Amino acid sequence: MKKVTVSAPGKLMLLGEHAVVYNRPCLVTAVDQRMYLTAELLEAEEFQLNAPDVQVENYKKKIKDIGKGEIPKGAKFIEIAIRNFSEKYPIRGGLRITTKSEFSSSFGFGSSSASTVCIIKALSELFDLGLSKKEIFDIAYKTVLDVQRKGSGFDIAAAVYGGTLYFLTGGKAIEPLSIKSLPLIVGYSGIKADTVTLIDKVKKEFSNKPEELDSIYNSITVFVEKAKDSIRDKNWKSLGDLMNNNQSLLKKLGVSIEKLDNMIQSSISAGGYGAKLSGAGGGDCMIAICSDEKKEKVEKAIEEVGGEILKVQANAEGVRVEK
Ligand code: MEV
Repeated sequence: MKKVTVSAPGKLMLLGEHAVVYNRPCLVTAVDQRMYLTAELLEAEEFQLNAPDVQVENYKKKIKDIGKGEIPKGAKFIEIAIRNFSEKYPIRGGLRITTKSEFSSSFGFGSSSASTVCIIKALSELFDLGLSKKEIFDIAYKTVLDVQRKGSGFDIAAAVYGGTLYFLTGGKAIEPLSIKSLPLIVGYSGIKADTVTLIDKVKKEFSNKPEELDSIYNSITVFVEKAKDSIRDKNWKSLGDLMNNNQSLLKKLGVSIEKLDNMIQSSISAGGYGAKLSGAGGGDCMIAICSDEKKEKVEKAIEEVGGEILKVQANAEGVRVEK
Protein backbone atom coordinates (compact mmCIF):
# COMPACT_ATOMS: atom_id res chain seq x y z
CA MET A 1 0.00 0.00 0.00
CA LYS A 2 1.01 3.61 -0.50
CA LYS A 3 3.58 4.93 1.96
CA VAL A 4 5.32 8.28 2.50
CA THR A 5 7.95 9.73 4.84
CA VAL A 6 7.92 13.44 5.61
CA SER A 7 9.95 15.59 7.99
CA ALA A 8 9.52 18.99 9.66
CA PRO A 9 12.02 21.13 11.59
CA GLY A 10 12.06 22.11 15.23
CA LYS A 11 11.99 25.82 16.08
CA LEU A 12 13.43 28.49 18.32
CA MET A 13 11.65 31.68 19.27
CA LEU A 14 13.98 34.64 18.60
CA LEU A 15 11.94 37.50 20.08
CA GLY A 16 8.33 38.17 21.05
CA GLU A 17 7.20 35.16 23.11
CA HIS A 18 4.10 35.62 25.26
CA ALA A 19 3.25 38.92 23.51
CA VAL A 20 2.56 36.91 20.33
CA VAL A 21 -0.24 35.04 22.10
CA TYR A 22 -2.06 38.38 22.35
CA ASN A 23 -2.18 39.75 18.83
CA ARG A 24 1.42 40.87 18.56
CA PRO A 25 4.25 39.78 16.26
CA CYS A 26 7.25 37.57 16.97
CA LEU A 27 10.35 36.32 15.17
CA VAL A 28 11.01 32.58 14.93
CA THR A 29 13.61 30.44 13.21
CA ALA A 30 13.43 26.77 12.18
CA VAL A 31 16.32 24.56 13.35
CA ASP A 32 18.03 21.73 11.51
CA GLN A 33 16.97 19.00 13.95
CA ARG A 34 13.86 17.38 12.51
CA MET A 35 10.83 15.26 13.28
CA TYR A 36 10.33 12.36 10.84
CA LEU A 37 6.98 10.70 10.22
CA THR A 38 6.16 7.72 8.03
CA ALA A 39 2.54 7.12 7.07
CA GLU A 40 1.25 4.06 5.26
CA LEU A 41 -2.24 3.37 3.96
CA LEU A 42 -3.86 0.16 5.24
CA GLU A 43 -6.76 -1.79 3.82
CA ALA A 44 -8.30 -2.40 7.26
CA GLU A 45 -9.96 0.71 8.67
CA GLU A 46 -7.57 0.87 11.58
CA PHE A 47 -5.32 3.60 12.99
CA GLN A 48 -1.94 2.40 14.29
CA LEU A 49 0.64 4.66 15.94
CA ASN A 50 4.22 4.13 17.07
CA ALA A 51 5.87 7.21 18.56
CA PRO A 52 8.57 5.73 20.84
CA ASP A 53 10.12 9.16 21.60
CA VAL A 54 6.92 10.06 23.48
CA GLN A 55 6.28 6.57 24.91
CA VAL A 56 3.54 5.55 22.49
CA GLU A 57 3.98 1.98 21.27
CA ASN A 58 1.58 -0.21 19.29
CA TYR A 59 -1.32 2.15 19.92
CA LYS A 60 -4.34 1.10 17.83
CA LYS A 61 -7.98 2.03 17.36
CA LYS A 62 -10.64 1.99 14.67
CA ILE A 63 -10.44 4.87 12.19
CA LYS A 64 -14.07 5.75 12.95
CA ASP A 65 -13.11 6.26 16.63
CA ILE A 66 -10.28 8.65 15.87
CA GLY A 67 -10.30 11.66 18.19
CA LYS A 68 -12.77 9.92 20.53
CA GLY A 69 -12.38 8.40 24.00
CA GLU A 70 -9.25 8.40 26.14
CA ILE A 71 -6.18 9.44 24.09
CA PRO A 72 -2.63 8.96 25.46
CA LYS A 73 -0.72 12.27 25.81
CA GLY A 74 1.87 11.35 23.19
CA ALA A 75 -0.83 10.50 20.61
CA LYS A 76 -3.07 13.54 21.09
CA PHE A 77 -1.74 15.96 18.49
CA ILE A 78 -1.51 13.33 15.75
CA GLU A 79 -4.91 11.86 16.47
CA ILE A 80 -6.71 15.22 16.64
CA ALA A 81 -4.88 16.36 13.50
CA ILE A 82 -6.19 13.29 11.62
CA ARG A 83 -9.69 13.98 12.93
CA ASN A 84 -9.48 17.63 11.79
CA PHE A 85 -8.14 16.56 8.40
CA SER A 86 -10.92 13.98 8.01
CA GLU A 87 -13.56 16.65 8.66
CA LYS A 88 -12.42 18.31 5.42
CA TYR A 89 -11.16 15.39 3.33
CA PRO A 90 -12.28 11.75 3.41
CA ILE A 91 -9.84 9.15 4.73
CA ARG A 92 -10.19 5.89 2.81
CA GLY A 93 -8.90 2.74 4.53
CA GLY A 94 -6.60 2.76 7.54
CA LEU A 95 -3.30 4.38 8.56
CA ARG A 96 -0.08 3.12 10.07
CA ILE A 97 1.99 6.01 11.48
CA THR A 98 5.51 5.99 12.93
CA THR A 99 7.41 9.03 14.22
CA LYS A 100 11.08 9.50 15.05
CA SER A 101 12.57 12.72 16.34
CA GLU A 102 16.15 13.99 16.06
CA PHE A 103 15.61 16.15 19.13
CA SER A 104 14.37 15.53 22.63
CA SER A 105 10.81 16.61 23.38
CA SER A 106 12.27 18.31 26.50
CA PHE A 107 14.16 21.02 24.56
CA GLY A 108 11.08 23.08 23.73
CA PHE A 109 11.84 22.78 20.01
CA GLY A 110 8.16 22.10 19.32
CA SER A 111 7.98 18.34 18.84
CA SER A 112 4.16 18.36 19.08
CA SER A 113 3.77 21.03 16.43
CA ALA A 114 6.36 19.40 14.15
CA SER A 115 4.55 16.04 14.33
CA THR A 116 1.16 17.75 13.78
CA VAL A 117 2.49 19.41 10.64
CA CYS A 118 4.11 16.15 9.49
CA ILE A 119 0.89 14.12 9.72
CA ILE A 120 -1.11 16.68 7.71
CA LYS A 121 1.58 16.91 5.03
CA ALA A 122 1.72 13.07 4.91
CA LEU A 123 -2.07 12.79 4.50
CA SER A 124 -1.99 15.42 1.77
CA GLU A 125 0.61 13.27 -0.05
CA LEU A 126 -1.14 9.93 0.53
CA PHE A 127 -4.42 11.25 -0.85
CA ASP A 128 -2.81 13.36 -3.61
CA LEU A 129 -4.33 16.60 -2.37
CA GLY A 130 -1.36 18.92 -2.81
CA LEU A 131 -2.41 21.08 0.17
CA SER A 132 -0.76 24.51 0.23
CA LYS A 133 1.43 25.64 3.11
CA LYS A 134 -1.38 27.86 4.39
CA GLU A 135 -3.90 24.99 4.28
CA ILE A 136 -1.48 22.78 6.25
CA PHE A 137 -0.93 25.64 8.70
CA ASP A 138 -4.68 26.15 9.23
CA ILE A 139 -5.47 22.48 10.00
CA ALA A 140 -2.39 22.17 12.22
CA TYR A 141 -3.12 25.38 14.13
CA LYS A 142 -6.73 24.32 14.72
CA THR A 143 -5.31 21.08 16.13
CA VAL A 144 -3.07 22.96 18.59
CA LEU A 145 -6.02 25.03 19.78
CA ASP A 146 -8.22 21.92 20.09
CA VAL A 147 -5.59 20.14 22.20
CA GLN A 148 -4.17 22.90 24.40
CA ARG A 149 -6.73 25.72 23.99
CA LYS A 150 -4.02 28.41 23.69
CA GLY A 151 -1.00 29.27 21.60
CA SER A 152 -0.11 31.67 18.82
CA GLY A 153 0.73 29.07 16.16
CA PHE A 154 4.27 30.42 15.62
CA ASP A 155 5.71 26.92 16.14
CA ILE A 156 3.36 25.49 13.50
CA ALA A 157 4.42 28.22 11.07
CA ALA A 158 8.12 27.42 11.64
CA ALA A 159 7.48 23.70 11.00
CA VAL A 160 5.49 24.41 7.80
CA TYR A 161 7.42 27.28 6.21
CA GLY A 162 10.91 26.83 7.72
CA GLY A 163 13.50 29.62 7.46
CA THR A 164 13.21 32.65 9.72
CA LEU A 165 9.78 34.22 9.99
CA TYR A 166 8.08 37.37 11.13
CA PHE A 167 4.83 35.96 12.48
CA LEU A 168 1.60 37.49 13.77
CA THR A 169 -0.80 35.61 16.08
CA GLY A 170 -2.80 32.88 14.37
CA GLY A 171 -0.90 33.30 11.10
CA LYS A 172 -2.39 36.73 10.33
CA ALA A 173 1.08 37.48 8.95
CA ILE A 174 3.69 34.88 8.03
CA GLU A 175 6.59 36.68 6.40
CA PRO A 176 9.81 34.84 5.55
CA LEU A 177 12.97 36.93 6.09
CA SER A 178 15.43 36.25 3.34
CA ILE A 179 18.66 35.52 5.18
CA LYS A 180 21.20 32.72 4.81
CA SER A 181 22.21 32.10 8.44
CA LEU A 182 22.04 33.41 11.99
CA PRO A 183 25.05 33.34 14.38
CA LEU A 184 23.02 31.70 17.12
CA ILE A 185 24.20 29.78 20.17
CA VAL A 186 21.67 27.58 21.93
CA GLY A 187 21.97 26.51 25.56
CA TYR A 188 19.61 23.98 27.14
CA SER A 189 18.81 24.56 30.81
CA GLY A 190 18.06 20.89 31.55
CA ILE A 191 14.66 21.90 32.89
CA LYS A 192 11.45 20.98 31.07
CA ALA A 193 8.93 23.81 30.82
CA ASP A 194 5.22 23.66 30.16
CA THR A 195 3.94 26.38 27.84
CA VAL A 196 0.31 26.42 28.97
CA THR A 197 1.34 26.65 32.66
CA LEU A 198 3.54 29.65 31.89
CA ILE A 199 0.91 31.44 29.80
CA ASP A 200 -1.54 30.96 32.70
CA LYS A 201 1.04 32.16 35.24
CA VAL A 202 1.54 35.48 33.39
CA LYS A 203 -2.22 35.93 33.04
CA LYS A 204 -2.76 35.34 36.74
CA GLU A 205 0.08 37.57 37.94
CA PHE A 206 -1.09 40.51 35.87
CA SER A 207 -4.83 39.96 36.31
CA ASN A 208 -5.19 43.19 38.28
CA LYS A 209 -2.56 45.14 36.28
CA PRO A 210 -3.79 44.83 32.67
CA GLU A 211 -2.34 48.21 31.61
CA GLU A 212 1.11 47.20 32.80
CA LEU A 213 0.89 43.93 30.88
CA ASP A 214 -0.31 45.76 27.80
CA SER A 215 2.56 48.21 28.00
CA ILE A 216 5.10 45.34 28.35
CA TYR A 217 3.64 43.62 25.29
CA ASN A 218 3.70 46.92 23.34
CA SER A 219 7.39 47.41 24.20
CA ILE A 220 8.15 43.83 23.14
CA THR A 221 6.44 44.61 19.82
CA VAL A 222 8.77 47.57 19.27
CA PHE A 223 11.80 45.29 19.88
CA VAL A 224 10.43 42.67 17.47
CA GLU A 225 9.88 45.23 14.70
CA LYS A 226 13.41 46.61 15.15
CA ALA A 227 14.93 43.13 15.34
CA LYS A 228 13.30 42.25 12.02
CA ASP A 229 15.35 45.06 10.42
CA SER A 230 18.51 44.08 12.34
CA ILE A 231 18.24 40.52 11.02
CA ARG A 232 17.70 41.73 7.46
CA ASP A 233 20.72 44.07 7.80
CA LYS A 234 22.80 41.33 9.48
CA ASN A 235 23.39 43.82 12.29
CA TRP A 236 24.06 41.24 14.99
CA LYS A 237 25.17 43.78 17.57
CA SER A 238 21.82 45.55 17.31
CA LEU A 239 19.96 42.20 17.38
CA GLY A 240 21.87 41.31 20.57
CA ASP A 241 20.88 44.60 22.22
CA LEU A 242 17.23 44.01 21.33
CA MET A 243 17.39 40.47 22.72
CA ASN A 244 18.75 41.89 25.99
CA ASN A 245 15.87 44.38 26.11
CA ASN A 246 13.36 41.62 25.42
CA GLN A 247 14.90 39.50 28.19
CA SER A 248 14.45 42.34 30.74
CA LEU A 249 10.74 42.36 29.95
CA LEU A 250 10.48 38.56 30.12
CA LYS A 251 11.93 38.87 33.62
CA LYS A 252 9.24 41.43 34.43
CA LEU A 253 6.65 38.95 33.20
CA GLY A 254 8.11 36.52 35.73
CA VAL A 255 8.92 33.72 33.29
CA SER A 256 12.72 33.62 33.60
CA ILE A 257 14.43 31.43 36.18
CA GLU A 258 17.81 31.58 37.92
CA LYS A 259 19.41 28.89 35.76
CA LEU A 260 18.45 30.70 32.54
CA ASP A 261 19.50 34.07 34.02
CA ASN A 262 22.94 32.64 34.85
CA MET A 263 23.40 31.16 31.37
CA ILE A 264 22.28 34.43 29.76
CA GLN A 265 24.51 36.59 31.98
CA SER A 266 27.55 34.35 31.46
CA SER A 267 27.17 34.42 27.69
CA ILE A 268 27.08 38.22 27.71
CA SER A 269 30.06 38.49 30.09
CA ALA A 270 32.00 36.20 27.74
CA GLY A 271 31.51 38.65 24.88
CA GLY A 272 28.12 37.73 23.36
CA TYR A 273 26.19 40.60 21.75
CA GLY A 274 23.05 39.61 23.61
CA ALA A 275 21.03 36.73 24.99
CA LYS A 276 17.58 35.78 26.19
CA LEU A 277 15.39 32.83 27.03
CA SER A 278 13.62 31.29 24.06
CA GLY A 279 10.02 30.09 24.32
CA ALA A 280 7.69 30.09 27.26
CA GLY A 281 10.44 30.40 29.93
CA GLY A 282 10.56 28.42 33.16
CA GLY A 283 13.26 26.20 31.60
CA ASP A 284 13.91 24.89 28.06
CA CYS A 285 16.56 26.89 26.16
CA MET A 286 18.31 30.24 26.04
CA ILE A 287 19.80 31.72 22.89
CA ALA A 288 22.77 34.04 22.43
CA ILE A 289 24.06 36.00 19.44
CA CYS A 290 27.81 36.45 19.09
CA SER A 291 30.63 36.93 16.60
CA ASP A 292 32.47 33.88 15.19
CA GLU A 293 35.58 34.84 17.19
CA LYS A 294 33.70 34.79 20.51
CA LYS A 295 31.71 31.63 19.82
CA GLU A 296 33.93 29.17 21.69
CA LYS A 297 34.30 31.45 24.71
CA VAL A 298 30.56 32.08 24.93
CA GLU A 299 29.73 28.37 24.63
CA LYS A 300 32.22 27.55 27.37
CA ALA A 301 30.76 30.22 29.64
CA ILE A 302 27.28 28.74 29.23
CA GLU A 303 28.59 25.25 30.04
CA GLU A 304 30.42 26.53 33.12
CA VAL A 305 27.11 27.50 34.73
CA GLY A 306 25.56 24.13 33.92
CA GLY A 307 24.00 24.72 30.49
CA GLU A 308 24.23 22.20 27.66
CA ILE A 309 25.18 23.54 24.22
CA LEU A 310 22.88 22.23 21.49
CA LYS A 311 24.63 22.22 18.14
CA VAL A 312 21.88 23.41 15.83
CA GLN A 313 21.79 25.59 12.75
CA ALA A 314 19.03 28.16 12.38
CA ASN A 315 17.03 28.93 9.22
CA ALA A 316 16.31 25.27 8.33
CA GLU A 317 13.95 24.03 5.61
CA GLY A 318 10.24 23.63 6.37
CA VAL A 319 8.14 20.47 6.05
CA ARG A 320 9.21 18.25 3.13
CA VAL A 321 8.73 14.83 1.65
CA GLU A 322 11.70 12.52 2.24
CA LYS A 323 12.70 9.85 -0.27
C1 MEV B 1 6.09 29.30 23.78
O1 MEV B 1 7.12 28.67 23.11
C2 MEV B 1 5.87 30.70 23.26
C3 MEV B 1 4.59 31.37 23.73
O2 MEV B 1 4.56 32.67 23.13
C4 MEV B 1 3.36 30.58 23.36
C5 MEV B 1 2.93 30.68 21.91
O3 MEV B 1 3.31 31.63 21.21
O4 MEV B 1 2.17 29.80 21.46
C6 MEV B 1 4.63 31.56 25.24
